[in-house]
Amino acid sequence: MIERRKIKHIALVGTGTIGGSFCAHFLARGYRVTATDPAPDGEAKLRAFVARIWPQLREIGATKLDAPPPFAFARDVASCVKDADFVQENAPETEALKIKVLAEIDAAFPKERVIASSTSALVMTRLALECAHPERCILAHPFNPPHLVPLMELAGGERTDPAAIDLAEAFYAEAGLKPVRLKREIYGHIANRLQYVVWNEAVQMVLQGYCTAADVDAAITEGPGRRWAFIGPFLSYMLAGGEGGLKRTFEMFGPRDTMAVDRASRIRLTPEQQKILIDQVEEMLNGRTPADMARARDARLVELAKIKNAFEKD
Ligand SMILES: NC(=O)c1ccc[n+]([C@@H]2O[C@H](COP(=O)([O-])OP(=O)(O)OC[C@H]3O[C@@H](n4cnc5c(N)ncnc54)[C@H](O)[C@@H]3O)[C@@H](O)[C@H]2O)c1
Repeated sequence: MIERRKIKHIALVGTGTIGGSFCAHFLARGYRVTATDPAPDGEAKLRAFVARIWPQLREIGATKLDAPPPFAFARDVASCVKDADFVQENAPETEALKIKVLAEIDAAFPKERVIASSTSALVMTRLALECAHPERCILAHPFNPPHLVPLMELAGGERTDPAAIDLAEAFYAEAGLKPVRLKREIYGHIANRLQYVVWNEAVQMVLQGYCTAADVDAAITEGPGRRWAFIGPFLSYMLAGGEGGLKRTFEMFGPRDTMAVDRASRIRLTPEQQKILIDQVEEMLNGRTPADMARARDARLVELAKIKNAFEKD
């Protein structure tokens, strides 16, 4: 039986890229946070990360505090989760490891409270295999970094009680995230299934010599990417039909789109092909490190968040 409790205290299990961003996000929104991570430098890295990104949360209006409030770092999973209202698991994306971590959380966490996994593509039916209470286990897939990209894709496994997803949906919305609920679980959820298709086509075009990696990235960021922050594929396609809307788009582009779909194919990259792509991306980086790029991305996402917030008030 899922308890309909007010969620005030979040336990974060695993505090790398995703757990660290969640930590800052929930603190900024006024939640109490207890975190844990087995890495020897886990606590120091987390505290430094939260302090570094805090100004971004101030800038987008998520908090008025100049510095992050205190939060607890527990030495193991059991002491991290025992007093929390809700658990967000962000351990590495390995099925066997996640099955073990979820079972550990399940054994130490009151049985009527919800456990959410950030898994990018694994399915909850399997992740909860060793849990005594799989009914309270849900998938809650964020986008990196969740403090600036608010989508949360929610789904249950075969044994999940829909009440657990109801509770998580309400909680995430209240916490300033944007939950989207799947009717049933599917590998890759929604957004990554879409990204896989784009990625496959991008790779094919580069490897077959039609364009460079830089051309592909520009074709997205200067083209559909500009629209996609505000209208997705369905509303974009509707607008392509002018006054006639989506019905007219189908009449105009139906045959063309059938051809395009027939051309789409899946690719498994050989090491040689990976090398070609890695070299092209190195060239695009032009000496910048991944950390430089993440900073540049975040600076732009902060500005985008401000624009999106302004439109939400309309
Ligand atoms: N990085 C992304 O873009 C992204 C996006 C959405 C979802 N996710 C998902 O979030 C989860 C975490 O990914 P990440 O990118 O933050 O990975 P990461 O490697 O940055 O962090 C994982 C953390 O888990 C810790 N860890 C290792 N063993 C653990 C254990 N037994 N219990 C608890 N913690 C443990 C590691 O020390 C590390 O700090 C994965 O399931 C991933 O698929 C990642």
